Amino acid sequence: MLKVLCVCLGNICRSPMAESVLQETLEDKGYGNTVSVESAGTASYHIGEWPDPRTIEVLVKHGNNRKSKARQAVSEDFHNYDFILAMDHSNYADLEALNSGDSKAELHLFREFDSMPENKVVPDPYYGGKDGFEQVYQMVRRSSEGFVDYLESKKLI
Ligand code: 4NP
Repeated sequence: MLKVLCVCLGNICRSPMAESVLQETLEDKGYGNTVSVESAGTASYHIGEWPDPRTIEVLVKHGNNRKSKARQAVSEDFHNYDFILAMDHSNYADLEALNSGDSKAELHLFREFDSMPENKVVPDPYYGGKDGFEQVYQMVRRSSEGFVDYLESKKLI
């Protein structure tokens, strides 16, 4: 099983959205039992919480009912996962600091795999309006498609 971890700051808005959408994308393509997807936050603020209601609302609107509780990213994640996908540069830098060295995981910005990558950042929608959550959905949808294409092109799945 290939293991993927999606990471943002709080693990209640962007990375749970990425986790649910990437899971759905993989299942739709027949890879549901080949790749597992989880998520985590670099911060501890929301450990044990369900995703933000606005994240759940956007997912449900798009027919996706998956959700999981927040946890904090730890150094061992670099040994337990094959890919760690950061939502922004700050998450990426915080994750690099957690990596103690001989890491198994490949660290990427998730939007490296977006067909419309712009600045490669999934912006934090927490303090904004609902439209920000819909924009995050569209970014993680495209990035999920691109990431699965990447895994296929590298013959990892
Ligand atoms: P996320 O959004 O990193 O996409 O889950 C945030 C959630 C909570 C906070 C910041 C960002 N917070 O400061 O509590």
